[in-house]
Amino acid sequence: MDTAQTFIGRAPGRVNLIGEHIDYNGGMVLPAALSIGLEVSLAPRADNTVTMRADHYDEAARRDLKEDASGHWSDPALGAARQARAMGLLAGGADLTIRSAIPQGSGLSSSAALIVAILKAARAAAGSDMTDTEIAVAARAVENGFMGVPCGIMDQMAVALAAPGTAMALNTRDLTHEIVDLPQTHAVVVVHSGLTRRLIDGRYAALKGECDTAKAHFGTDDLCLLDPADIARSDLAQPFRKRALHCATEHRRVLDAIAALQARDVAALGQAMNDSHISMRDDFEMSLPVIDALVADAAELGAAGARLTGGGFGGCIVAVVEKGRQDAWLAALLDRHPGAHFIGAV
Ligand code: GLA
Repeated sequence: MDTAQTFIGRAPGRVNLIGEHIDYNGGMVLPAALSIGLEVSLAPRADNTVTMRADHYDEAARRDLKEDASGHWSDPALGAARQARAMGLLAGGADLTIRSAIPQGSGLSSSAALIVAILKAARAAAGSDMTDTEIAVAARAVENGFMGVPCGIMDQMAVALAAPGTAMALNTRDLTHEIVDLPQTHAVVVVHSGLTRRLIDGRYAALKGECDTAKAHFGTDDLCLLDPADIARSDLAQPFRKRALHCATEHRRVLDAIAALQARDVAALGQAMNDSHISMRDDFEMSLPVIDALVADAAELGAAGARLTGGGFGGCIVAVVEKGRQDAWLAALLDRHPGAHFIGAV
């Protein structure tokens, strides 16, 4: 390993078209890679120091590989370097320079993209033949183990494997996946609600815990594979029954959305997205009134489908809008919601 050399790793942000909070409940999900992304340049070091500079933070960081997460912005990068070291991709620390166009705290997987990009750069440094799926699994381990974020595998798989402009139909039980083309006639538009969210603020973990209670009740790890009718008439107490119902119905809506994309049936895709939002709002209770209003107006102004996307309690909505009407639709939506802003379109 030549310590003078630098190695580049890249990863896009992602938006989830449909399939929320089911990547840890045995479901199918349908994320798409964004054209905005980030790039990391990595220079291996012989000692155990990790230095990190990012264009979106004024202050650089210098940390030891043995340090734990401390709530500092550099935690995900340090965790990725530690993971790369543990997997033998680095012999010591590294100097990392990060250039990112992915907004933080917006539910667009900036953290997953950063960790994946560092692991990919370290893979290049080591000349390793590790697969992108193995990179994604390792990146999730950084979130779960080092960062203490109890996320599923969707974001890491999407940013490690999906090419911008396509969606990935991902089976989160066995990580098999298929690339699905997006409609030619419509744009997938991402609009930020203006409310930023943090995965580690406890609400994500609380919802995951409620799903675990439902799993224990039904004696399964795969809530998504249960029959929604069986869940609805079960004696499982609320809110656990509603949580399980969301998982089972959302999984079926993802299957409908994949079939709709393959059949180029935008109306059916939109219906699945609209129904998904109602389920997230009423059964999973992960939305907020500001987001519900944004989604309702997105549909009223002509989107074929619109829904909250990501972990919930803020962040972005995703809408499918006819390409010729996209600009007027966006202007009208932002006029009604001055706190919202456009993020990008796939
Ligand atoms: C976050 C997590 C993902 C997934 C989504 C909700 O993005 O990182 O694993 O659970 O929330 O669908």
